Order: sequence, then C-alpha cells, then structure tokens
Amino acid sequence: MLSSPNIAFIKYWGNRNNELRLPMADSLSMTLDHPNAEITIQEADTLEIHSYTMGKERKIEGEHLERFRTHIELTRRYLAGIGAPKALPSGLHITIASNIPPSIGLASSAAVFSGIAKTIRQMIDKRVELDDAQTSIIARLGSGSAARSVIGGYVALAAGEDNAINASRAWQIAPANHWQLYDIIVVPSQTEKSVGSTEGHALAHTSPHFAARIEAIRTRRQRECVDAILEKDFEKLQRVSEEDALDMHHVMETSNPPLKYLSQETHRIVGEVKALREKEHLPVLFTMDAGPTVHLICTDEAVQEVRSFAKAQKGCTVFEAKVG
Ligand code: DP6
Repeated sequence: MLSSPNIAFIKYWGNRNNELRLPMADSLSMTLDHPNAEITIQEADTLEIHSYTMGKERKIEGEHLERFRTHIELTRRYLAGIGAPKALPSGLHITIASNIPPSIGLASSAAVFSGIAKTIRQMIDKRVELDDAQTSIIARLGSGSAARSVIGGYVALAAGEDNAINASRAWQIAPANHWQLYDIIVVPSQTEKSVGSTEGHALAHTSPHFAARIEAIRTRRQRECVDAILEKDFEKLQRVSEEDALDMHHVMETSNPPLKYLSQETHRIVGEVKALREKEHLPVLFTMDAGPTVHLICTDEAVQEVRSFAKAQKGCTVFEAKVG
C-alpha cells in the first residue's frame, strides 16, 4: 500500500506514555499527495524488514529493527484486545520502498508506519475488519504522527485521556478536495538531524513552557485550527499554526538538554516570507518540524509567487506537494 507524510498545523510534541505513544495533546495536519512509501507485507518465519530509499537498500538493524519489532508486538497486543489475537501471522516479511528523499524535513516514519498499518488492515481483513480509527491506532504505535497519515485530507489526532492502548486515534476533519492547499518545502541543509523525534518527545516535559503549551492546545488552539479549516479561513489558520509551530520550538529550545532544530537559514527564510506576504498580501504561512526545513503552506492564489520565492533561495533545495 502507498502512504505519504503529513505536515502538522498543530504539532504533536510530548507523550503522556512514551511506550504507547499516547500524546499529551491533540494535533492536526494535512496529508500530502506525495512523496510516498510503498509497503508490502508477506508471511514469513520471523520478522524481516527490507528497506529501499530511492531504490537504494538501507540495512535495518539494531535499534531501527527493534522499533519495528516493538511496533509489531504492540499491534498484536492491540489486536488481541479487540478479539483478534491470531489475526497477524507469527512472522512477517515487510518491504519498504520509499521515494521520500532523506532529510527534506518530511518524516518518512509517518509514511512508513501509516503504510504498515494500512497494509496490515488489508492483510487481516478476512479475520477482522478494521476501520480508519483502528488503523490509525496501529500506525500510532509505530510513530505518533503516522496516525494522521492513515487518513487523507485534513486530519486530527485526538489525544484521548487514559493510558489504554486505544485511547488516542485520528479522525478526518475534511477531505482533501475541501480546500486545495500547497506545501512548498524549502530545505536549507541536507545534514542529518542529531536528535530524532522519539528522543525529543521524551524531553518535552523538561521544558518550563511545556505545561502552558499543552493547556493552550487543549483549551483553544486545536479548536481554532479545526474551525479555520472548516471555514477555509486562511488568516485564522496562519495565526494559530504559526503560533503553535513557534511555541513548539520554544519548548524544544528550553528543554534539558535544549533541542535546537532551527538554523540561521530557517530564521532568514521566515523573515523574508513575512516581508513578502506583508508587501504582496499573500495567503502563505510558515511552519517547521524537527529540523531546519521551512514548509510554506499556501492557497492556489499564492502558489506561483511562493514557488518563485522558494526557488530564489540560494543553496536551498525545493520540494513541492499538496494536500492529498
Ligand atoms: C515535530 O511522529 O516523528 O513532526 O512518534 O517518535 O515517530 P515518533 O515522533 P513523530 O513526531 C512528530 C513531531 C513533529 C510534529 C508533528 O508532526 O506533529
């Protein structure tokens, strides 16, 4: 099955349960039409993973293999809980063929684990039929943001409340054709990030600003973002998503140890985008995940100008996607 990354307007950062990837707060994203990862799964004697990125084989061993092993074990635990303990064969041969360029600031883990969850759904549908929410739970057990990529269009991940394995699940706010938004991705640096998201989530609690962030999402931001999307109110979406992205980076930078994902280049690009949109009254917003890449989200009306702006950034690679 094919699956793509997503870009979040309200960011997922920090868990109440790291093992089950149960988030502290809701998050919200749009799923992208590409690039994608294609997942195939066959019955095997043990767990085997074969991973190809842009056609080149990447060996999955050590902690990477452990992550997949844990994911499959948790998936079995979840399936047992819904009365299907034997739905998955005891061994699996998983092949990942990814077209996602490494280090462009699009989490390939979201595409990979959502793809695995969708493929598992298809594989076991004679034994148990899963709906989208259940499939998102399986994806979440591998990567939190992957829960949102199981579904197309505009998708929220509800944090839920307790520590049950099924407490947090994704749902669709609006389909992709509700609002055509683009993501023009400006990549200032190709270097691998030093601290991955999984380690980063575990540090979120050490920031003195984390509690206020969670409170803001719970009481206001998630709701405002859902409304902005339903109303197709770009200004509202811009205000709330930029506030949330900068707030997440504030939490990251004040964690112990601090996590500094944004570079000087990131700040320069953000400054120039702000100046451009003020001058031209362009519907464009910026957001950054756990890396220096700047995502410029815009409407049809702005896409040509944003594209030219992105291409004029010296030393940057530009990648383009849209909601899908
Ligand atoms: C900054 O889903 O990548 O992109 O569960 O460890 O795989 P894991 O974390 P991940 O975290 C996403 C972090 C983010 C924000 C977001 O996409 O919501």
